[in-house]
Amino acid sequence: MGKPLVIRDLIAEIPVIQGGMGVGVSLSGLAGNVAKCGGVGIISTAQIGYQEQGFAEHPIETNLKAIGTHIRRAKEISGGGIVGVNIMVATRKYGEYVKAAVAAGADLVISGAGLPTELPALAGESRTKIAPIVSSAKSASVICKLWDRKFHRCPDLLVIEGPKAGGHLGFSREELERLDGEAYEEEIKSILALVRQYSEKYQYHIPVVIAGGIYGGDEMRHALGLGADGVQAATRFVTTFECDASEAYKQAYLAAKKEDIQIVKSPVGMPGRAIRNEFIRRAEEGALDSHWKCYQCLEKCSQKDIPYCITDALINAVKGNLDHGLIFCGADAWRAEKMEHVSEIMEEFRKEFAKI
Ligand SMILES: Cc1cc2nc3c(=O)[nH]c(=O)nc-3n(C[C@H](O)[C@H](O)[C@H](O)COP(=O)(O)O)c2cc1C
Repeated sequence: MGKPLVIRDLIAEIPVIQGGMGVGVSLSGLAGNVAKCGGVGIISTAQIGYQEQGFAEHPIETNLKAIGTHIRRAKEISGGGIVGVNIMVATRKYGEYVKAAVAAGADLVISGAGLPTELPALAGESRTKIAPIVSSAKSASVICKLWDRKFHRCPDLLVIEGPKAGGHLGFSREELERLDGEAYEEEIKSILALVRQYSEKYQYHIPVVIAGGIYGGDEMRHALGLGADGVQAATRFVTTFECDASEAYKQAYLAAKKEDIQIVKSPVGMPGRAIRNEFIRRAEEGALDSHWKCYQCLEKCSQKDIPYCITDALINAVKGNLDHGLIFCGADAWRAEKMEHVSEIMEEFRKEFAKI
């Protein structure tokens, strides 16, 4: 039997974190159920209040309130399991989101899409654990060095997100073409070596989880074999009954073939991975409506320079309005063949883990 994932005083019996998926794909339903099964459930705070009254007029205030609602709901579902949030650094008013999550009792804040340089100060002395997401040894070194120097602390957990992940990716298009599995494993080993230095300095074993292309037990075993303490999986959980996205969104995954999955240029300025559809075709032709209401999602967004609004595109998708939506997914989305319960997937991970 392998070791559980230990993040300070948090112990996940199955070392699986369900990755945060915005907009609205991982809310309390999915996160609560993963936590209930002994993993770590992560709610995405990206436009988390999109279904709530008042969202169109006051998106940020509505989102901040919805953070508390979803954390409470997920905690209830999980019966005391580990529930965290994913807050992208690129979010406008990022600090307010972190403070709202801490105040609502999030067990963990995971932050990527930029380096969370101020996260230790924002979490303060609270019991909420903090974890940066990195994609390279360079960014791991920058964030560890900075937190060490400025806050005299190390991450409670580190997430390494590789090139097979879904949503926005921390790689250039060229890197995505160049990086094969083997080349990225060298990067993972360098990050693990770096983190071990900080573990020694802080006399605390900083757990590291690997994300991107973890679809089941085989990939988990491989990741743990590389020296990781756990895995973060997202795509696999989309085609579950408990996932918070619409039925149509899940069906798009079930219907997708390998060749339908492509890299797109997102208005956020990073490449993203998504299922090719009518929306992407129209975006490529420059045929999308260029007038929209701003939902104040990103710190840096120049409305006149982007082809479409990322919030609109992701909300349309999650609601099932697919022809007008961007369906984010990981490289393995084509592998989904049937709807599953979260408990079945967690059982698959648990069985593999029991053999280690
Ligand atoms: C639909 C979807 C939405 C995502 N949204 C976010 C997000 O809002 N913030 C984030 O940091 N990562 C996001 N991700 C990345 C996941 O959290 C996760 O790290 C990654 O997808 C893991 O790879 P996998 O999907 O192959 O398991 C998203 C992934 C997917 C599939």
